[in-house]
Order: sequence, then structure tokens, then C-alpha cells
Amino acid sequence: MTSMAAVRCVCVLLFIIATSKAATSPHIVFIAADDLGWNDVGWHNPQMITPNLDKLAKAGVILNSSYVAPLCTPSRSSFMTGMYAYHTGLQHMVIQPESPAYLPANFTTLPQKLKDQGYSTHMIGKWHLGFCNWNYTPTFRGFDSFLGYYNGAEDYYTKKIRGGLLADGVDFRDDKQPKYTEEYSATVYARRAVDIIKSHDQSKPLFLYLPFQSVHNPIQVPKRYENMYPNIEDTQRRKYCGMVSAMDEAVGNITQALEENGLMDNLLLVFTADNGGPTFAAANNLPLRGAKSTLWEGGTKGAAFVYSKTLLQKSGYENTEMIHASDWFPTFVRLAGGQADSTIDGVDQWVTLSEGKTTQRTEFIYNIDEVSENGAIRVGDMKLIEGSPGMFNGWYPLPRVTKEEADFPPELLDMTDTSSDTYLYRLLKKHFNAVGSTEYRLFNISADPTEHFDLAEKYPDIVSQLKTTLDTYKKSLRPAFNPPSTYKANPLFYGGLWSPGWC
Ligand SMILES: *[C@@H]1O[C@H](CO)[C@@H](O)[C@H](O)[C@H]1NC(C)=O
Ligand SMILES: *[C@@H]1O[C@H](CO)[C@@H](O)[C@H](O)[C@H]1NC(C)=O
Ligand SMILES: *[C@@H]1O[C@H](CO)[C@@H](O)[C@H](O)[C@H]1NC(C)=O
Ligand SMILES: *[C@@H]1O[C@H](CO)[C@@H](O)[C@H](O)[C@H]1NC(C)=O
Repeated sequence: MTSMAAVRCVCVLLFIIATSKAATSPHIVFIAADDLGWNDVGWHNPQMITPNLDKLAKAGVILNSSYVAPLCTPSRSSFMTGMYAYHTGLQHMVIQPESPAYLPANFTTLPQKLKDQGYSTHMIGKWHLGFCNWNYTPTFRGFDSFLGYYNGAEDYYTKKIRGGLLADGVDFRDDKQPKYTEEYSATVYARRAVDIIKSHDQSKPLFLYLPFQSVHNPIQVPKRYENMYPNIEDTQRRKYCGMVSAMDEAVGNITQALEENGLMDNLLLVFTADNGGPTFAAANNLPLRGAKSTLWEGGTKGAAFVYSKTLLQKSGYENTEMIHASDWFPTFVRLAGGQADSTIDGVDQWVTLSEGKTTQRTEFIYNIDEVSENGAIRVGDMKLIEGSPGMFNGWYPLPRVTKEEADFPPELLDMTDTSSDTYLYRLLKKHFNAVGSTEYRLFNISADPTEHFDLAEKYPDIVSQLKTTLDTYKKSLRPAFNPPSTYKANPLFYGGLWSPGWC
């Protein structure tokens, strides 16, 4: 070996040592917006003022076929477990405040898996995966810290939610401690995220799960955000757009903190809706059909993107590969240097996201809900819907549907109280119980992403093929876990708080 070669060799060795030391697993920031419509983000709709999100989306990879479940609880169960909701028992509706339902304790959650890889794990925002016992709450399920609420919807200022049994309670915690503040939640959450980022021990990778309250009903926003949309006449839509912009500003504050504290250089940021937009509460999904709670694309195709300054080999384009909510679990775990269980439903999408390669996923389940007797599956180009797609079946125009155009009860348009999630639940329940339809609808989503042309009559053989596949999936269904509401949950027994301790 010449002396030059020896020097080179030592240098290479030193380089390897230095880089392997510096190469800690990437920080992961996973943002889920609540009830955000497909058409409620700036990169789909120029009416929306979301400069921070737009910038990240355009510099990253915009996801055009990233699917979530039709409702909050099922999607969140997939995020946390890498499983389809029908494997967690949370496929039917959402967890009601007084129902002792929860994400079954035998699932290893995403933050638990990331903790095994040395991550600090923090959650800010909405849980909605059960809280009747401490063991089912975020800090007992893998998060080092939690600021947020356990239920599905609440007042953005008072943090109160009314249950179906008409009890009113505050639902807001800092870890286990009740927290009282009347500050708008998007601002509270952004500040906490910034604090976590600032005080983060940089020798460890960070996992920040940020399921915003925004932009779920009730429709509430400080005036200054509403005022950003003077041209929108419809009051609810104007406020709703303001809520989206408040969330955008929160994301801007958080990304600024990530930059300033040096975390952005080794970080993956994922932004996704948790389900489609509730067109009955001012959201919009055009050009997609349907709304939150339905199996239509408008209920299940999430506005989403991934962003990274350093980890994406290909960026600045729209990716149309098939991705499902359960895929984030194995993707993050693998990026963290771990390995997800081979039995999970999720598919590692890293090469698809980072290099634009063809996804390993060729099919997915939109949902299987044996109580509502409906479900949907996608295989390749084709989508089969079994039973009722849900109660919102149209293409709802901007700014929001008028009473005349609605094909659903007009009372829904007047939802003003904070318990409307429960209200919606009752309505949907009534509807679904009345359905029991065995109809089949078939769409070619590649050719017809807006579901205008039902091909079921034209291709009976494809219907029967997809039905057989769907039936195979159904065999492993975990029965829906929707225990009845109980007075034991009453906040009156817990000093006016929604609190664990009743199951
Ligand atoms: C959890 O327990 C249920 C019921 O015993 C079982 O069917 C399921 O496979 C278990 N899941 C996991 C991830 O262990
Ligand atoms: C973002 O930060 C600015 C400056 O600190 C602050 O005034 C604003 O309220 C923050 N916005 C949100 C939504 O947190
Ligand atoms: C579905 O649409 C795609 C894209 O237009 C096309 O290639 C494919 O042949 C279609 N499939 C059927 C069954 O019509
Ligand atoms: C993205 O999705 C929308 C709605 O399905 C569609 O209209 C649009 O053409 C898609 N973009 C690409 C690049 O496929």
C-alpha cells in the first residue's frame, strides 16, 4: 500500500465513522388535519390561503392517491397500529364520549415502536382512541408527553364537549393533568410544538404526532383569520377557510422552529387529512364525490403531502401511487431503523415516497363495517363498493351546499352546537340501520376518479372477482367494538372533566 493510499484509506475510515455517528434516524413530524376536505388546501384550490403548507407541498411530494378511512377514529386506529380499522374493532362510526370503547390494548403502537429505536415521542392534539381507563390514553400508549383532548370534537376555546347523554365537560390535558385555557387550540398546539422542538435533546430522534383539532366542527376561528376571506359570502365557509388558514399559520410557526433549531436538516414531515371533508359542515371535496363518513373518494382520499429537505431523492411533483393510512406505520418504523411486524396491513412506502418508484401496494380496503353492512375495496384501477356508500352521495359545490341541493336532512346544515359529532352519529346510525343494502357499485378510479360512471352492470365478472377478494379480507374481521354509553362516564363525577376511571 502506498502512503497516499494509506492516507486515503484512513480518511475513508474516518469518514465512515464520522457519518455513521452523525447519521441518527430522521426526525419525524406527522401532522393530521381533522375533517379537511380535498378542495380545502391551496395546492388544490386557489381560493384557500395556505402559504406555509403550499410551500412544503410544492417542494415535497404531493400525494394524489393517499387514502384514509371515512371517519376520525378508524383512521387514527390505522395511523397508530398499521392495521385496517376492521382489524382493530374500530371500523364502525367513531368513539362516543360516554362509550367505554378504546383501541385494544394488545396492539403495539407507532410511538412504542419508535421508542424502541430511541425516539422521543410527543403527541399534541386529538386522540379519539378511547380514554375510559388510563391505560388507553396517549402517555400510556407510547407517548412521552401529551397535550390535547381525548374525544372527537369540542369547543376550540372552552375545550368543552357535550356527550350524547347531555353531560358537558372539559376535555383538555397536559399529560395526565387537566389543563384550563380558553386560548384557541391551534395557537396552543403550535406553541407547545415549538417548546418541544426548542427543548429537544438533539442526540435523539424526535417523533412529533400532531393531530390538529383544526378544522373539525364547531366552526370557530378568531376574526383575523376569518377576515382573510372577505369575498366569501357564506359565513360558515368563510370561517371554515379561516380555520384552515389558522392551522396553516400554526404549521408555519412549527416549521420555522424546526429550521431555527436545526432539526429540519434530517427530518421527514407528513401532512394528511384524517378523512374527507364534511360538506355538511362547510368543507369541500370537489371534484371528488361524497363527503366525510362515506366510502366515496370524497370521504376517503386525503389531501396529503410529504416534505423533507434532505431525504427525498425526487421531489416537486405529484405522486399518484396508491397509499393507505396504515402504510405510515411501517414506513416510519423502517425509516427509524426498525422493523414492523410482517402481519400488519400497512406497506412500507419509503421508495415510493423518496424515489417515486411504483408502490408495492396493489390493493386496499376502504373499510369493512359489518354493522352498517357496507365496505369497499380497490384492486388496481377498480373499486367495488358493497352496500350503501353512505348518506352523502353528491358532488357538493362551493361555498357549501344550499338546503335545496342537499340530499340529506336540512337540520344538519344548522349544526351550531358542539355536540354535533354526536348528532351526526345519531343520524348516520339511523340511516345505516335503515340500509342493509346488498347493492354493488363498480368504478374505474384511474379513468374516473370522480366516480361518475358505475360499471357494475357492464363488468359483472369484475364485480364478482372483487367481491370474492373482499370476502376473503372479511374473514379476519375483528367485530366492531361499540359498547353502549354509560352514565359512569359523566363529567359530573370527575369535577367537570372527561376523565379516565370508568372501565
Ligand atoms: C389482540 O387480541 C385479539 C383477541 O384476542 C386477537 O384476535 C388479535 O389477533 C390480537 N392482536 C394482536 C396484534 O396481538
Ligand atoms: C405564530 O407565531 C406568531 C408570532 O409568535 C404568533 O403571533 C401567532 O399567534 C402564531 N400563530 C399560531 C396559529 O400559533
Ligand atoms: C380503467 O382505466 C384505465 C385507465 O384509463 C384503463 O387502462 C383500463 O383498461 C380500465 N379498466 C377497465 C376494466 O375498464
Ligand atoms: C389528482 O387527483 C385529482 C382528483 O382525483 C385529479 O383530477 C388530478 O388529475 C390528479 N392529478 C394527477 C397528476 O393525477
